[in-house]
Amino acid sequence: MFETISEIDLRSWEGQQNPDLPFEALIEDGRVLFFPHLAFDILEGEKKFLSPDWSDGKSKNISIRGPIAKIQGAQGSCEDLILLTNLVTRFRTLASCLVDQLFPAYRGKLQEGFTSYRPARVETRVTSWRKDDTRLHIDSFPSNPTGGLRLLRVFSNIHPGDLPRTWRVGEPFKDYAKKFLPNTRPLFPGQATALSLLGLTKSRRTEYDHLMGQLHDLGKQDLDYQSRSPQIRFDFPPGSTWVVFSDQVLHAVMAGQFMLEQTFYLKPQDLLDPSKGPLSVLENLTGRRELA
Ligand code: SIN
Ligand code: FE
Repeated sequence: MFETISEIDLRSWEGQQNPDLPFEALIEDGRVLFFPHLAFDILEGEKKFLSPDWSDGKSKNISIRGPIAKIQGAQGSCEDLILLTNLVTRFRTLASCLVDQLFPAYRGKLQEGFTSYRPARVETRVTSWRKDDTRLHIDSFPSNPTGGLRLLRVFSNIHPGDLPRTWRVGEPFKDYAKKFLPNTRPLFPGQATALSLLGLTKSRRTEYDHLMGQLHDLGKQDLDYQSRSPQIRFDFPPGSTWVVFSDQVLHAVMAGQFMLEQTFYLKPQDLLDPSKGPLSVLENLTGRRELA
């Protein structure tokens, strides 16, 4: 069985470097860096936010994007929204401190993306197959092309009781890509321009985005692959944190409630070893250059 989870005994968000085997090398290999004792502390006045009632009922997650900390997807009084914003931005700052210390090679190169708070119970969420994150997938969002940027994500389970966040983690990216690439199609001429003119993509969709989107969909639609492909099940307990390249590691969430998540973007050329990233793997498998 492939190695999936690397457990690290870290107790402070100020992080720690690992000169023997740099954490960049582990995470670029497709490992989940798991910190069983790295907890995000909820302050006394914040405990009331551990309820799904703060969701506006329309968005899947409560989130903050960009430098202007206007919270989205939440409802409540102004006073409460300030407190909730503080909680979410505190997580963003701690997640930034953590990656800054863990990954010195990426220092100054990671760009902050969304910070989200996920108060909904996973098991009862109803969605379309494409949005169904209980199916193994790599992260790729149709309306938000990355053009090859890596997606590095920090997750913390903040459940106040003992409910773990249960994930499945699948086989290495290269094996998954090999299985589904034969069923993918290139962009047709003018497709990227049409998508952007119609406002369906926030930036131009590259061949890379197009392939990643198809891999995401083909994998989620294949129920046989979902149940029979090599995979492990893993429980992330409350009070733990994990860090992963979610565009590379096949993952699915099976159970849990109350999680915080911070996304960072990284240019593929800023990896310690760019040949390990999905862009390079896909270029090698397809024999095509400059997919992004
Ligand atoms: C996902 O990125 O697929 C969701 C992970 C989670 O909600 O635990
Ligand atoms: Fe995902």
